[in-house]
This record gives sequence, structure tokens and C-alpha cells, in this order.
Amino acid sequence: MTGKWVRVANLSELPAEGLGHSVKAEGLDLALFRWNDRVWAIEDLCPHLGFPLSEGIMQAGEVICSWHGWHVRLEDGTCRRERERAKVWECRVQGDEVFVKFEFGGF
Ligand code: FES
Repeated sequence: MTGKWVRVANLSELPAEGLGHSVKAEGLDLALFRWNDRVWAIEDLCPHLGFPLSEGIMQAGEVICSWHGWHVRLEDGTCRRERERAKVWECRVQGDEVFVKFEFGGF
């Protein structure tokens, strides 16, 4: 499987921990969150009915969707009580730039 790192945002654009930031990259909608001194990238689409996760509140590594309150983990996209999951991507910060690794092929 090959991957490509894509710059998606400046770190200084991201709100404080707890709030999300939506970006578009590689034709996808992503929600970025600060947590544990890192930046996390998750699909900006709630696995329940598709509300933007970037509008949710993040607590202890889980995004709580603003619509019906599903809890979605930043680490792996799993949901607390349901089997559905959101896609997540590897993230890294260099200086003020946030990069996300998009994987291609290998399925
Ligand atoms: S759309 Fe997110 S909990 Fe229903």
C-alpha cells in the first residue's frame, strides 16, 4: 500500500481542543481535531446519518455528533455503541503545517 502526504491546513487555523475544523483534501471532507498534543483527521461525516463531525464536540478522544449524540473515536473511527465506523487518516504536523496521509491501492 502506498501513501501520499498532503498538506491540509495550518496548525494556527485549528480551534482549541474540543472543537473541530473542516477541510477538503483529495476530494474528501475531513474534520481535524486537536487532542493529546496531536492533530487527528477523521471523515467529516457521522457514521449514523452523515452530519458533519467537525460540528461536534470532542471530549477525551471522542467526537460527540451534534445531531443525535453518537460518540466516534478519533483513534480508529469506531463508535461507542454501534458497529459503524468513520474513516480516519494518519496526521502529522511540521512547523505550522498539518499533513494527512492518504493511502492508495493495496486492497
Ligand atoms: S447523524 Fe450523527 S448521531 Fe445521528
